[in-house]
Amino acid sequence: MSLTELRTSTAYTVGRVEEVPPGEGRAFVAGGVQVAVFRLRDGSLHATQAACPHAGGPLADGQTDVDVLVCPLHLYAYRWSDGASTSGTAPVRLYPVRDVDGDLVVEV
Ligand code: FES
Repeated sequence: MSLTELRTSTAYTVGRVEEVPPGEGRAFVAGGVQVAVFRLRDGSLHATQAACPHAGGPLADGQTDVDVLVCPLHLYAYRWSDGASTSGTAPVRLYPVRDVDGDLVVEV
């Protein structure tokens, strides 16, 4: 078992759900970790690392639908289901995120 597997997550309130318009993403900091939080048009919330694993693009500015997030720099796509790249690059890290009475709570 690696040290990563032993690490426990901590939940942080990073903002309010209404700060993220439907269909868009916004950048936040959760416990010192830069994250990108997305509110999809179906109402679901998703969170990723803020910097694209390919070359550091700002994922919060990416385009998204219910299946994938597309980085704005080189248009690499990442699946919401598991963070895998559909373009053959490294996967994006996903973080649990939930709506707690209108607060955005992200576990990092
Ligand atoms: S930096 Fe995101 S696809 Fe290149």
